[in-house]
Amino acid sequence: MQLSSLIIERNQQEFAAFTSLLVVNPPAQDSLEALAPARVVTHDYRVAQSLRTQLQERLCCGLQTHADQSHDAALVFMPKSKGELSLLLAFVNSLISSGAPVYLVGEKKQGIASGAKRLAELGEQTFKVDSAKHCQLWCTRTSPEKGPVSFQLQDWFEQYTVSIGQEDYHFASIPGVFSYERLDEGSAMLIDSMIEAPAKRIQGRTLDFGCGSGPIGIVAKKRNPDIALEMVDINWLALECAKRSCALNGVEASVYASDGWSDIDGRFDTVLSNPPFHSGVATEYQTTEHFIRGAYDHMNRYASLMLVANAFLKYPGSIESRFGRCDTLNESSRFKVYTTFR
Ligand SMILES: C[S@@+](CC[C@H](N)C(=O)[O-])C[C@H]1O[C@@H](n2cnc3c(N)ncnc32)[C@H](O)[C@@H]1O
Repeated sequence: MQLSSLIIERNQQEFAAFTSLLVVNPPAQDSLEALAPARVVTHDYRVAQSLRTQLQERLCCGLQTHADQSHDAALVFMPKSKGELSLLLAFVNSLISSGAPVYLVGEKKQGIASGAKRLAELGEQTFKVDSAKHCQLWCTRTSPEKGPVSFQLQDWFEQYTVSIGQEDYHFASIPGVFSYERLDEGSAMLIDSMIEAPAKRIQGRTLDFGCGSGPIGIVAKKRNPDIALEMVDINWLALECAKRSCALNGVEASVYASDGWSDIDGRFDTVLSNPPFHSGVATEYQTTEHFIRGAYDHMNRYASLMLVANAFLKYPGSIESRFGRCDTLNESSRFKVYTTFR
């Protein structure tokens, strides 16, 4: 059980009187039944899958507003970034009734202290409910005079332009999606390697794994219009950005949610990725190790895999042990671009 869920468990009584509690951004796996939430909102596909059976129609995926219900309290689990917290709090503010309390829970290392300051901007009275195991639970009480507040997800999208190989590309961006308002340095290096790669390295059915706002797959498709592009991510906000980026660049792609290989069928001729290596604030390699192992089984014979990773990560060993070889296409002090074939 996550530390945030433990502190919620020991403060269950705090939530007992609410009849339409809204829970936003909960961790995967942990049961929320004790809180009896009326609605649980997540934009993480893994979390949604882990809570689907337990919550059924009370689970909402993505940040859609719903006019049918005004909540008498809300509980937000600290997201990864301050920008994402502002987005979630604005979303919550549009769904709670006047005077309703909003709770924020998170670990010290997730920045709960500065999160509490943002929470305070929403209400009149803000106080710490509990603190234990390097975690804190905060509450702010919104004004009884608070009127209806509107929230439009589309107002939160930004757009940035990057010139690549003498062509301008436009990408959508939103807080909480990797590399907000800029092209990541590692992704830019993979894109350079893709452009320099010999013809036929990018061909056929092509996957952009962990597509984020979509720069890698979109450049691949623009420069190789014959490929059939698929883009997957675990984060619905990322998928929303990727769809918008496709539209902005006139690119056709199939964009869908998957946790690792969970929802990806069949085999590819090209697999491209700047794979994830952070989960929350902890560095973890599991998703990418699993991605590399699974890639072999999802690739046709002679298919190619190209990925970029921080130079200190030990992926060449994993690639070699699964594919028999791993070549370095490009490197800087911070990133390396690897390739292999099946
Ligand atoms: C390093 S970012 C790269 C994003 C994008 N390709 C770019 O170049 O800007 C990795 C992406 O992988 C996604 N991700 C993390 N865990 C995942 C998983 N289990 N399955 C699929 N995607 C995942 C993240 O949401 C994030 O968008």
